[in-house]
Amino acid sequence: MKQEKIYLKDYKGPAFSVDSVHLDFNLNEDFCRVRAKSAIKQLTAGSALHLNGVDLKLIAVKINGQELQPTEYQVTAEELIIPSVPASFTLEIETQLEPQNNTSLEGLYKSSGIFCTQCEAQGFRKITYFFDRPDVMTSYSVTIEADKKKYPVLLSNGDRIKTEDLGNGRHKAYWSDPHKKPCYLFALVAGDLGVIRDTFTTTSGRKVNLEVYASHGKQDRCWHAMDSLKKAMTWDQDVYGLEYDLNDYMIVAIDDFNAGAMENKGLNIFNSRLVLADSSSATDTDFHSIESVVAHEYFHNWTGNRVTVANWFQLSLKEGLTVFRDQEFSADMTERAVQRIEDVDALRAGQFAEDAGPNAHPVRPESCMAVDNFFTMTIYEKGSELIRMMQTIVGRKGFRKGMDEYFRRHDGQAVTTEDFAAAISEPNGKDFSQFKRWYNQSGTPVVSVLEKFDAAAGEYHLTLEQSCPPTPNQPTKEPFHVPLMMGLLDKNGKELALNCEHITQNTDGKHLIELKDHKKTFVFKGIKERPVLSILREFSAPVNLHWEASEDDLYFLMEKDTDSFNRREMAQKMGLRVLSNLIAKARKGEALQVDEKYINALSAVIRDPNIDPSFKAKMLQLPSYAVLAQVEPVLDAEAFHKARVTVRKTIAKMNKAALLETYRQFHGVEPKSRDTKVFGHRQLKNQALSYLAELQDPEILEIVNKQYWDAQNMTDRMTALTILADSQSEYREKALQHFHDEWKNDSVVINKWFTAQASATSRPDVLKDVMALTQHPTFNLQNPNNVYSLLRAFSANIVRFNDPKLNVYEAYADKILEVDAKNPQVAARLCSAFNFVQKLDPVMKDKALTQIKRMVAAPNLSKNSRELLQSALT
Ligand code: ARG
Ligand code: ZN
Repeated sequence: MKQEKIYLKDYKGPAFSVDSVHLDFNLNEDFCRVRAKSAIKQLTAGSALHLNGVDLKLIAVKINGQELQPTEYQVTAEELIIPSVPASFTLEIETQLEPQNNTSLEGLYKSSGIFCTQCEAQGFRKITYFFDRPDVMTSYSVTIEADKKKYPVLLSNGDRIKTEDLGNGRHKAYWSDPHKKPCYLFALVAGDLGVIRDTFTTTSGRKVNLEVYASHGKQDRCWHAMDSLKKAMTWDQDVYGLEYDLNDYMIVAIDDFNAGAMENKGLNIFNSRLVLADSSSATDTDFHSIESVVAHEYFHNWTGNRVTVANWFQLSLKEGLTVFRDQEFSADMTERAVQRIEDVDALRAGQFAEDAGPNAHPVRPESCMAVDNFFTMTIYEKGSELIRMMQTIVGRKGFRKGMDEYFRRHDGQAVTTEDFAAAISEPNGKDFSQFKRWYNQSGTPVVSVLEKFDAAAGEYHLTLEQSCPPTPNQPTKEPFHVPLMMGLLDKNGKELALNCEHITQNTDGKHLIELKDHKKTFVFKGIKERPVLSILREFSAPVNLHWEASEDDLYFLMEKDTDSFNRREMAQKMGLRVLSNLIAKARKGEALQVDEKYINALSAVIRDPNIDPSFKAKMLQLPSYAVLAQVEPVLDAEAFHKARVTVRKTIAKMNKAALLETYRQFHGVEPKSRDTKVFGHRQLKNQALSYLAELQDPEILEIVNKQYWDAQNMTDRMTALTILADSQSEYREKALQHFHDEWKNDSVVINKWFTAQASATSRPDVLKDVMALTQHPTFNLQNPNNVYSLLRAFSANIVRFNDPKLNVYEAYADKILEVDAKNPQVAARLCSAFNFVQKLDPVMKDKALTQIKRMVAAPNLSKNSRELLQSALT
């Protein structure tokens, strides 16, 4: 078996350039003909022509109109090679495909009768032989011919030129994209789709037609995506001065899609779960995700499309930057502090785990087997943190100056993360040479904090020491350039003036320590009383802070810090201490008693009328199982569960009346509103309900059941269903049955039903439930959303997935193999379930490794899955 890795160090620029390409598609039920005509020039004289192509049937090749003889070219499993070509020539290639049989969902495929494409990263090579690499940019014109009745809508990138009726029941559409682009941004859609329309006028007066397409009958659920698009267009103009550059912007919702969405030029293709929403079918969280992903794909038009990546190792150039932009957009649309908390929670739960596991890799990786495995939380979310740190260092104004410079230098080019760092640092007179280690070194750095107060000298000494644990291929690391936003508080919670020569203040007025050394002591003068330190404000760097702060200080900061992020962070820190303590006891079989001070502090939060409800909900969250799995030395699912449930139950018991009051205060108020405020109220009262449900009181379960049946929005309904699905209550079956009957024909909503059942942590038979659901008539193993919402949700259910009494790993591995045979990208995403393998106790670890070995040995395992699983064995 060929097992090649590709390396960044082997990267060479293209040997040919393409002036233009014309693609002609002839779509039929059982085959599709593609004719590609390109104008090509040699950049390096004498180069043989190597074109990428996979799973293609080659019909004909012509150079300058002359058909080549089979002796004049070679076809391998991955390439078409023409050893000798003129310096400049026209190349015509005709291929034949079977989109209806394409289960990989990359290239051209069919989803619910609709032809669609997904070319990033390397799907274009499944359409025609071409330079399937992002640094070959060219202008495209496209014609699509298909049956007029079955496929009335024919879409591609750029400008709509015309549509012809061919008279024989078929029609043909002409498209032309004036902007040069790499082939991964090519897209085509053909089908019978409904559409909603609106317009947007840009600052400079361009009137843009906005269209959102979805299957017929779903148009009513497209308006939130449309509103989100207009908000994103406005925001990008206001914040970055960036305008849209075509006359049409189209979004198409597709049921079968490997990822979330794709930023194809002018024609975004979306997973329908990230487009379709109304209050009866979508939760508040769904509305929020749709807004942020619609914005993300829109923002790519500049950060990704106008300026693209030189090679796939640079993926974070566009993804990290675009995630950063969508996070900032969301912060401006909602509550900045709450948004930051959510983003950091996601980073910690997912990316920190990735960075600590067998598949840790740098934000700019050096090698890979399967390019599609690059679409990770490290590239996206850690990548975004890198951009955020740059902004923190140069300040918002400086960052905008840098972004302007980035577009001035690189518009229309395919560039690297180095180019980006230079564009931000140079106009700001900053040196990023050390900062760039963040791109090359994997692993989550640790910053340790040591404090000393010298009352006599009036000095406060802060010693910071950094290190980074070893990661695959990187046993040792060089020190990072870590921006630490900080402050010192007096005993009343007032900010003290910072008299320290190493403190900088960025253009936003934030005080920073830029830690560059391995270890350094910072001396603050003129301090009369012992101050309380607040550090890593807003989570200004993606690090683990080791800080043995006293409990008193933590409780003080929880209440008084001027940085909201840190108030909540201290609550998490205390929660972790309490949980770790209980976990240790549970592992020894000792009785669990929750620390009273901690319960009192949370009780005070519950009762405090002055805390904003959405922020309060964040304060009251206990650290997640995913976080416990990282910080605890051993992943002991039973002990985790016992500890966490005990704390939740105690909080509920001590605050039953107050929680009920919170619930009653906000329940049923403006149930259809999607205002950020109301969203926060709903979140808090539903959290109160889920705490109360820990008590297993018949009276509470009745309230939950009533909420299920009376719900006027999906948030309330799903909260109730999720609680019932994880209970032994008599109400469970009836509610689940009802939800199923209501939504069984809705490809998007039914996924919530799978997730509710797969996420149950207290029920002992979740494995049985999940495996039975894989056989359920509404479940389709070829639909990525079904797989993610059932199987991936189950693997995220750390408690039941790692239940030592069950053979979960074996059943799960069977499913990975089954999915892998049809769709390697989706299978590979399931493999991350085994990232915690080194954290398991010896018996469980052995069970997991046995399954990993079995999968790696499977005869036709894809290289996507193999790459991720193999690393767990080394
Ligand atoms: N570029 C897309 C985005 O906006 C994601 C494409 C995912 N592709 C993949 N092969 N997983 O984030
Ligand atoms: Zn993206």
